[in-house]
Amino acid sequence: MSDVAGLHARLRADLLQWYDHNARALPWRVGPDARRRGERPDAYRVWLSEIMLQQTTTVHAAPYFERFTHRWPDVSALAQADDAEVMAAWAGLGYYARARNLLACARAVVRDHGGVFPDTEAGLKTLPGIGSYTAAAIAAIAFDRPANVVDGNVERVMARLHAHRSPLPAAKPELAALAALFVTPDRPGDWAQALMDLGAGVCRPRSPVCEACPLAFGCAARSEGQANRYPLKAPKKARPHRQGHVWVLHDSAGQVALVKRPARGLLGGMMGLPTSEWVQGQDEPALKAPAPVAADWQDAGSVEHVFTHFSLSLSVHVARGTGDFDWKPVDEARAALPSVFRKALERALASL
Ligand code: ADE
Repeated sequence: MSDVAGLHARLRADLLQWYDHNARALPWRVGPDARRRGERPDAYRVWLSEIMLQQTTTVHAAPYFERFTHRWPDVSALAQADDAEVMAAWAGLGYYARARNLLACARAVVRDHGGVFPDTEAGLKTLPGIGSYTAAAIAAIAFDRPANVVDGNVERVMARLHAHRSPLPAAKPELAALAALFVTPDRPGDWAQALMDLGAGVCRPRSPVCEACPLAFGCAARSEGQANRYPLKAPKKARPHRQGHVWVLHDSAGQVALVKRPARGLLGGMMGLPTSEWVQGQDEPALKAPAPVAADWQDAGSVEHVFTHFSLSLSVHVARGTGDFDWKPVDEARAALPSVFRKALERALASL
């Protein structure tokens, strides 16, 4: 065995052993002990968790995962679900195109695959909402395929381990190639999850806990004394800022006026509050947008929200009134609204 192959084998063995003792207990996970006893992960649960975790943390996703799997315990149940109910259950997880794809995927699995998820990366990638990363993660975790599962955590671990000098995002393929050198047919699902846990708890973005790292002995960034410096990053473009108005109309029965957003576009298909266009810069007509109905509108301050591609300030207006809307009790509205609108609703209620 060459020196490099020997080092890889040792790093692998040490990280897997660390995982055996330190794996996080996560509601979708079959941990290393259960796995050794022969328990197999349920592909539906793995898939659902991976879609939820595409953009949010395990802590935030966990209660959603519990609610979803309680309400829709398998892919057939989800395939038959009411679209609006699924969209409402997704509210707060963001990226609502994902919730639409979630349903499309569940229905494709039932319609085209007899209710059984394909067990290869290539098969999984044919399904709606499953890209390369998610296909690799499901193939490894649910089916123990030796897939190279590379997310931001893994990029960071690889960049530090090798003190990799080229910056993200250009370095992505190079870091993926380094990660691929560690993938073998031995425990691929545990390997993928061990790297995730290491990245989340030890090889953390800002304050890595190198003292607790099972890979410290082979880590080039650590021997430079500079784990924090990696991964190097190219300077980011500033996120543009948009502004708009949002109107919280309530009635005497404690209901709030909601609207269903158009199927396509940002927050498509979700419930929303009546809102103006969201514009960049000083677009006077949009900034003076008319209220959706005449009422005694009061200024309730503003809320801020950060989306992936822009940040947003919404001026919140509140009034009592009537009109042709989808009226919902406040608690139901809270549950159904995406975060940006929920913030506006809370702002309006706090001003009353
Ligand atoms: N991040 C993405 N997928 C994950 C998983 N299966 N477990 C923990 N963190 C994750």
